[in-house]
Amino acid sequence: MRVLLGVTGGIAAYKAALVLRLLKEDGHDVHVVPTAASLNFVGRATWEALSGHPAPTETFDNVPSVQHVRLGQRAEAVLVAPATADFLSQMAAGRASDLLGNALLATEAPILVCPAMHTEMWQDPSVVANVATLRSRGVTVLEPAVGRLTGPDSGPGRLPDPEDIVAALYALLGGEAPASGAVGDLGHISAQDDPKPLLGASSSALAGDGGSWGDLDGVQVLITAGGTREAIDPVRYIGNRSSGLQGFALAEAARERGATVTVIAANVTLPLGEGIRRVDVESAAELESALARETERADVIVMAAAVADYRPVKVSDSKIKKSGADGLTIELEQTPDLLKVLVALKRPDQTVVGFAAETGDASGSVAEHGAAKARRKGADLLVVNEVGDGLGFGSSTNAVLILDASGEKAGEASGSKLAVAHSILDAVTSRAGTS
Ligand code: CTP
Repeated sequence: MRVLLGVTGGIAAYKAALVLRLLKEDGHDVHVVPTAASLNFVGRATWEALSGHPAPTETFDNVPSVQHVRLGQRAEAVLVAPATADFLSQMAAGRASDLLGNALLATEAPILVCPAMHTEMWQDPSVVANVATLRSRGVTVLEPAVGRLTGPDSGPGRLPDPEDIVAALYALLGGEAPASGAVGDLGHISAQDDPKPLLGASSSALAGDGGSWGDLDGVQVLITAGGTREAIDPVRYIGNRSSGLQGFALAEAARERGATVTVIAANVTLPLGEGIRRVDVESAAELESALARETERADVIVMAAAVADYRPVKVSDSKIKKSGADGLTIELEQTPDLLKVLVALKRPDQTVVGFAAETGDASGSVAEHGAAKARRKGADLLVVNEVGDGLGFGSSTNAVLILDASGEKAGEASGSKLAVAHSILDAVTSRAGTS
């Protein structure tokens, strides 16, 4: 199920991280939209790391993808926790001053709002009136729990426990509320447990089928990942440090968004998620043949693999023996630039994305080398990342600059490789108009 989690600026914002974790453990795909004020309590990096998606705040954070409409329209359930008094007033007035306000107006999904504030505020006539207005419009407003509040005071106003919030959400969607229990104990709700039709969500969605947000529904995405190995002899090769993590994250992200995904994996030992087709290759030549077979049907081709630029001219049939004290010279030849070939052969309806692993040097910075490469390669988009000194290769996070074919900035992203993958796909969809 696709859940939009709005977080507003209250001290209980930290509890929303536990709600998010429970939902993720049940297999749901959660996008977090924090308000600017809430970032004083829990930072954006937490939401991005836990959800695996960017966590934008402002309507203007990513205008081309029309995310304020997309997030609202694609959500199957919307949850706001904690909801401040100010947020209740904004929502009751139908104001769209930030991304969360916009998304709430754009959604037709069931909405659960979980207020948290001091007792006096909760009982103030203006708050009571706003809650009544929201309820009269079909919004479910959860009663706050009674207990200790931020200061020494206590009374109604506490944000209910994360398990109770998740149970209330499932109940709203027509499912049976799971027994509150330990974290991770909620996954027993399934289509079989719940014979009733659900409001605004399918039974499988409630069971957490990881349903996509769908802006790549029906799109064929081909991704190369990992690093090629060029044989020297039967036991040795020339390789590189690419782990395949970013390419595999792109595959996961594209599948989440509804694409049909094929990965050509060059020497990657990692597993791929269900529903993703995998073709394993070793050398640049094998990658070239696999691409020749697979590109025809692809709408989007992402060359995340680190392809060797040089390979031995001759591969020895038997293990090369050490002879005396002499060194060894291996003659190398250039491999074809596969990305350039893809760009030259691409159909107008195809989008080709290249990667550039760069280290700055005396002749230019990472961004300068990236812009020059974007113009040289001619790919629709070039994802530039700085590598070396623990950056990029093998790390679970990444920071990239996304350039268009003329070397102009088309986006940038940092965070988990999954979050970066989604930003790259955002750039693809806004460029290709597929969203
Ligand atoms: N690439 C390719 N075929 C090659 C070498 C690279 O298709 N023989 C692709 C990579 O998959 C990547 C992009 O080209 O998408 C850039 O790779 P990179 O190694 O950064 O660029 P190079 O062209 O090799 O340039 P240089 O090594 O000189 O920086």
